[in-house]
Amino acid sequence: ILRFLVVSLSFYGMSTFEGPMMAIKTVNALSHYTDWTIGHVHAGALGWVAMITIGAMYHTIPKLWGKAEMHSIDWINTHFWLATIGTVLYIASMWVNGIMQGLMWRAINNDGTLAYSFVQSVEASWPGYVVRLIGGLLFLSGMILMAVNVWLTIKDGVEEKNVDTAVPAA
Ligand code: HEM
Repeated sequence: ILRFLVVSLSFYGMSTFEGPMMAIKTVNALSHYTDWTIGHVHAGALGWVAMITIGAMYHTIPKLWGKAEMHSIDWINTHFWLATIGTVLYIASMWVNGIMQGLMWRAINNDGTLAYSFVQSVEASWPGYVVRLIGGLLFLSGMILMAVNVWLTIKDGVEEKNVDTAVPAA
């Protein structure tokens, strides 16, 4: 659980460093409209917001339902790696695509005409989209694993013993 929280802070640091960079006019001139923005969004959405929420839920759910722990700790570890590798594949492929698209769109021939058509930049982007698909599927499979783990914890989880109650001793 702590790993989720620590890695989420790393992605938070990364996306809040990247954001101000992308707000610089000369950087934005390259990144705007490209997949770079999509990479930035998902470093924030998957790496920061999702990871911190997942860690917090794994901590809270057994407590809310009075269970000793989550149904499977191994599944939490598996989920951690699925989410981390999925996010890294997602954002790295979008960085590569974004910078490539930005450079292709601004490339010009000696006579001032565009070196590439828009469709050529889309064609060049497809390997990145395959990597993004793999990353997204890894992340999604982690979420499905979490849903099953939560369900089994609530349904069959071992009851917490010696629960502190708020009732004072007589
Ligand atoms: C200091 C922190 C941040 C700054 C200064 C910042 C700045 C930026 C900039 C300059 C863009 C690109 C705009 C464009 O070219 O179209 C952008 C896009 C975006 N960022 Fe950030 N960002 C930060 C952190 C985050 C975080 C933590 C998240 C998510 C949790 C996030 C979510 C988004 C989204 C959803 C977009 C896409 C907006 C759109 O195109 O409609 N940002 N941000």
